[in-house]
Parts: sequence; C-alpha cells; structure tokens
Amino acid sequence: MSSPRRSASAVPPSPSLRPAAPACPPAVQALIEQHRHIPGGLLPLLHAVQDSQGHVAPDWVPAIAQAFQRSRAEVHGVITYYHHFRQQPAGRHVVQICQAEACRACGSGALTEAAERILGTPLHSTRADGAVTLEPVYCLGLCAQSPAARVDDRPVARLTAQRLQALAAGWGPAPASAPAAAPAVAPTSPYEA
Ligand code: FES
Repeated sequence: MSSPRRSASAVPPSPSLRPAAPACPPAVQALIEQHRHIPGGLLPLLHAVQDSQGHVAPDWVPAIAQAFQRSRAEVHGVITYYHHFRQQPAGRHVVQICQAEACRACGSGALTEAAERILGTPLHSTRADGAVTLEPVYCLGLCAQSPAARVDDRPVARLTAQRLQALAAGWGPAPASAPAAAPAVAPTSPYEA
C-alpha cells in the first residue's frame, strides 16, 4: 500500500517564493538594514526602533522577521517577553512605577493604585486623551530610595502620590476621581526626594 503523499498545497513555499513582508516606515527600514548583519542584532534593533518610534508595531514584525531569518512568532515572542517593548504608541507622558521587590516592600503597590486614580488610566495603558501612559518597570537601581519610578525617562526616587500629582498637574485635566492635592510641604522640585 502506497504511503499518503502531501498535497502540493501543503508544501511550504521556499523563502524566495514567500510573499514580501509589508513595508515598514522608512526610518524603521533603515534601522533594520543597519542591524540585520550584526550577530545578535535583533535585540539592539528592537531597542533602536522603540527609541526612534516610541514602540514596535505588530505590522513591522514581518519585515523584521524576514530580515533576521526568524519566524514572526519568534520575533513576537521576543517583543512580548520584555516589558520594555511597547506595541502601541505611548502617551505624551510616560510614568513607569517600579514593581520589583524592594519597591513593593516600600509601598509601590499602593502607589500604583493611587497613580491609576491620579492619572486616570490603569496600569499597562494609555489614557483616552493620549496624555499619559502608566507602565510597570522592574528595578531602576534606586532600591535604597524606594518606591522608585521613571517619569518621562527621568528617574524619581521616593515617589509619593502627592508628588506624582504635582508632576502631572500640567498634563491636562485630572480625572474626576483623582484625589485632592495634599496640602503638604511641597518639595522644591517634584523630582527631588
Ligand atoms: S526594586 Fe525598585 S528600584 Fe530596585
């Protein structure tokens, strides 16, 4: 009895016959060309794309995968493994609150809940008006000054809800549920501990 044969349609096309990956923006394509021949260049490329574009869009994955001779699933796996990489554009301001052990022990959980109310958006999301994105981050090297955060790429030690509210004061109307500003002694700069 003859063994069953795979139909021609089940045979994967050779790389040369695969459909071309959708085009990326010229800036992303240029970065791909700069990194595609560097050994281990995928992660540096993803960092460069996010630094340049603010995110790594799912639509760009096919071109990246094709350039690095990886599957789309592999590239998607790398992007989703690291919290650092965003798949959507961020808001005009980005607040990243540390969720690693030292900061959790010093109240970053409660601070994150307060930040969600103050900023009007849940963790891992961008407010509907695009004003601010709230993200977790895992250790900023400021463990001795927990809870720590990064606001628009600037490290902030011993962040409190009151200081965050002061920082966010100019970012647009606060949501109705935001707590009233504390009458506290305001630091000279909200970035200072
Ligand atoms: S644990 Fe938060 S800065 Fe290190």
